[in-house]
Amino acid sequence: MKRTIGFYGAGNMAQAIISGLINSGFYQKEEIYVYNHRYEPTLKKVEETYGIQVILREEELFQQSDLIIFAVKPTILTQILPQINPYLQKEHVLVSIAAGVSIQQIEKLTGPHKIIRAMPNTPAMVNQAMSSISPNKLTTQEEIQLVVDVFDSFGKAKVVSEELIDAVVGVSGSAPAYVYLFIEALADGAVLEGLPRDDAYEFATQAVLGAAKMVEDTGKHPGELKDMVTSPKGTTIAAVQSLEESNFRASVMKAVEAAAKKNHEMNK
Ligand SMILES: NC(=O)c1ccc[n+]([C@@H]2O[C@H](COP(=O)([O-])OP(=O)(O)OC[C@H]3O[C@@H](n4cnc5c(N)ncnc54)[C@H](OP(=O)(O)O)[C@@H]3O)[C@@H](O)[C@H]2O)c1
Repeated sequence: MKRTIGFYGAGNMAQAIISGLINSGFYQKEEIYVYNHRYEPTLKKVEETYGIQVILREEELFQQSDLIIFAVKPTILTQILPQINPYLQKEHVLVSIAAGVSIQQIEKLTGPHKIIRAMPNTPAMVNQAMSSISPNKLTTQEEIQLVVDVFDSFGKAKVVSEELIDAVVGVSGSAPAYVYLFIEALADGAVLEGLPRDDAYEFATQAVLGAAKMVEDTGKHPGELKDMVTSPKGTTIAAVQSLEESNFRASVMKAVEAAAKKNHEMNK
């Protein structure tokens, strides 16, 4: 494949991916092309910030790059696919990050092409995304690995079959919002106990970051890590009991299920 990558759309997600690619050194500025439907304000900002190649003619994007990431809203994606169809070659790998647009829907609008559906989440903005990668049958292992590497450059990426995207939305796509609720509630509790508001957010945020890092770095089961910090008759087991009485774990599981169900309905 050519060492170039093209973006259709220059908004938040495109910029998060571009910054990951450049910061990780995975792609050089000269190898990144971005098309947008207008220059100002978004494309101008992207050009000034990243110094990459900006394009205002759709056709040129498909001439310059083999790997194209579609980073526009789902309704725009389904509008533009029929219109870019004449520019598509069989070597192009088309990656969609649009929520709720299935590979089958894309294939209907483009015909048989190499298509990969990816589902990143908003921590992409700080290079900490979790992304799923779901390829169709026409993509090769080499092409799938390239796309995994692209998404790894701004977080972590894993290949999953497309029917598991609902679960991915529940566990990572929508999950930042549940974690923000948790951080806010932790801080509210601390404020209730007298800690100033700013300190409360700082303590709560670092506690969540640190706990996540413990799970990642030690490789230990989260239950084992919980056992390690709950001493007999201690403060932590008292808090754990309180959470269990309020159905904390069942509530979180139901939240994941609700997001997955909603995503499934949106894909119909
Ligand atoms: N944000 C997330 O956390 C997240 C997570 C997973 C997946 N996604 C998916 O990522 C995709 C992009 O989201 P985003 O947050 O990056 O959106 P965004 O910031 O709103 O960017 C959308 C891009 O589309 C362009 N655009 C707007 N109207 C257009 C039109 N009529 N024709 C062609 N291009 C048009 C915009 O250009 P102008 O700015 O010049 O109008 C902009 O470059 C969405 O499909 C979303 O489902 C997002």
